[in-house]
Amino acid sequence: MSILITNGRIITASEDYVADIFIEGETISAIGKNLQQKADTKIDAKGKLVFPGGIDPHVHLDMPFMGTYSSDNYETGTLAALHGGTTMVIDFILQTQGKPLRHALEQWQGRSNGNCYGDYSFHMAVTDFNDSTKKEISEMVDKEGITSFKTFMAYKGALMIDDRQMVGLMNEVKKCGGMVTVHATNGDMIDFLIAKHRGEGKLSPLYHYLSQPEITEAEATGRFADMANYTGCPAYVVHMTCEGALNHIRDVEKRNQKVYAETCIQYLILDASLYEKDFEGAKWVMSPPLREKKDQATLWAGINQGTVQVVATDHCPFKWEQKKMGEKDFSKIPNGHPAIENRMELLFSEGVNKGKITLNKFVEVSSTNAAKIFGMFPKKGCVAVGSDADLVIFDPNEEHTLSAKTHHMNVDYSGYEGWEVTGKVKTVLLRGEIAIENNECKIGKGFGKFIKRNKVGTMI
Ligand code: URP
Ligand code: ZN
Ligand code: ZN
Repeated sequence: MSILITNGRIITASEDYVADIFIEGETISAIGKNLQQKADTKIDAKGKLVFPGGIDPHVHLDMPFMGTYSSDNYETGTLAALHGGTTMVIDFILQTQGKPLRHALEQWQGRSNGNCYGDYSFHMAVTDFNDSTKKEISEMVDKEGITSFKTFMAYKGALMIDDRQMVGLMNEVKKCGGMVTVHATNGDMIDFLIAKHRGEGKLSPLYHYLSQPEITEAEATGRFADMANYTGCPAYVVHMTCEGALNHIRDVEKRNQKVYAETCIQYLILDASLYEKDFEGAKWVMSPPLREKKDQATLWAGINQGTVQVVATDHCPFKWEQKKMGEKDFSKIPNGHPAIENRMELLFSEGVNKGKITLNKFVEVSSTNAAKIFGMFPKKGCVAVGSDADLVIFDPNEEHTLSAKTHHMNVDYSGYEGWEVTGKVKTVLLRGEIAIENNECKIGKGFGKFIKRNKVGTMI
């Protein structure tokens, strides 16, 4: 099977030029002007952008959480991702405290194997680091190709580890060639504030926000960075939301430390005023919560300064019935919001079109940097000879409106209902197959492959 894409404007993290792309099998085999290769399929991309398939390194599919499961499974979640131009996701396995990592891996494989439309990988969340977990780290890296280990500094009793475990894990992960990633918020402070608000009868979604003030995230981010500096372990902060946290990352650069930072599309474009909508605010109950306009400005600046490398989603959808579990108590609202399908178009429309980031930066933070940081570059995350033909053909001028009526995510509302977007995903190729064309999926369930990742050797 071969495909020739002609006259597209090819955008990578560093280039911007018009050329043809010839694809043989799963791989890009030539790029150039007026390519003459005979192809089984020709796609005219004149007037369109062609960029690498999006990589969303922070999603939660079919995940047991807060007494329920996130409502997108591997089938619906990866299909929605493809519709939105994201060809690969990295999902989170959660170790059950008291059980081995392998036990969790097998559960997650059971739910994902054979069910994905798009490519996928896993981060392993270590929720109980002890002598036997320690022995499993090298096996995850060397045998399973799972090279990033997620930690939670919050959600005490289910997911949180203490600093002693964190330092032990960092030592082991560093030795094995992996990276430690973190949900960096101070769980004890948050639990104190939740209890205080509940005790005062303050139970609406607004108090979810008020239970996680900026200091809870800033403090934990600084502490995590210090432990990473002490151990020398490669480190990555997920879903960063605020100025206080980012300033810690800026500070550690002065001592020649690099801590990678990811934000999510919602923190760039939504703010905490949404929690004033009474229970409707539950749609945006996520952790950390949405912040202030000044934090949005800081995060956009961080992207342009190179201190924020990745824009992900933390896609963790729950249907309205599920959100209603917390109708009488904000602390019971399942945390998370849907965005896997919307990230690329929103980032283009709000970022590139509104002059906040360049096209190259758009590609860098939506795909290339995640591929580099998480050990997949240059197979993924770029348009180059020899790379997987994961490509998005994008109309930068088409206007459309986001809505739950038209999205493919398995959730009955949109966090962006009625949002007007300029720029639309038209065709998506995954490893040389046309996956999406004119809003239709052309591949079958199970086409998505588990991608084993390399050790963390490629730094940006
Ligand atoms: O609210 C969120 N973020 N839900 C998913 C779990 C997590 O903390 O990332
Ligand atoms: Zn988190
Ligand atoms: Zn998450």
